[in-house]
Amino acid sequence: QFTQNFIEKDRWMYIVDGLKVTLTITFLAVLIGICIGFIVGMIRSTHDKTGKCKILNVLCKIYLTVFRGTPVVIQLLIIYFVVFGSVRIDKVFVAVIAFGINSGAYVAEIIRSGIMSIDEGQFEAGRSLGFNYMQTMRYIIMPQAIKNVLPALGNEFIVLLKETSVAGYIALADLTKAGDIIRSQTYSAFFPLFGVAAIYLVLVMIFTFLVGRLERRLNNGAH
Ligand code: ARG
Repeated sequence: QFTQNFIEKDRWMYIVDGLKVTLTITFLAVLIGICIGFIVGMIRSTHDKTGKCKILNVLCKIYLTVFRGTPVVIQLLIIYFVVFGSVRIDKVFVAVIAFGINSGAYVAEIIRSGIMSIDEGQFEAGRSLGFNYMQTMRYIIMPQAIKNVLPALGNEFIVLLKETSVAGYIALADLTKAGDIIRSQTYSAFFPLFGVAAIYLVLVMIFTFLVGRLERRLNNGAH
């Protein structure tokens, strides 16, 4: 009886620990993604608008093409087994780096589309105020652009939350792996897998709700 209870408690711990890992990776990867995405997106738009930063622009383009053109699982495996292949390293750290760099490429395009969505007249307004390009960006363009892309950034979080489910490929015990471990230990597939699916679904629904609320609030501010 004692052993039975102990094992059952243990199984819940797989799920709880896995959920923690999944949320940790997602939050940190989104942060890294937003940092990289902002820098890369700004460089790309600066080149579009002014023709400057040519070499940087080419480097950013290569980064975008490579990281959006290959599956994130492969990138994760390469970073774990090749880049950090010869050192002992925390798998959560590897996953954060891999998903962060991958997400940065997608966020960069979100930021760039946000900047492109701002009317050309706003740039001219900056110039007529005597602002240089950076000042125009800082005080006129970005505040509007960020507002326009906030829903898309919220969505990136949701995408990453589900995308981290491939972290099991480097034997990282995230939420998906936790469900799979329980499946293999209990020979019962239904409850662990549907349970994990339900947890993801609830999380996504919560964040979708939050993103929707944010969207409505930003729209209210516009009128
Ligand atoms: N599943 C796609 C892949 O494997 C998308 C990756 C992540 N997408 C994102 N918006 N961060 O490459």
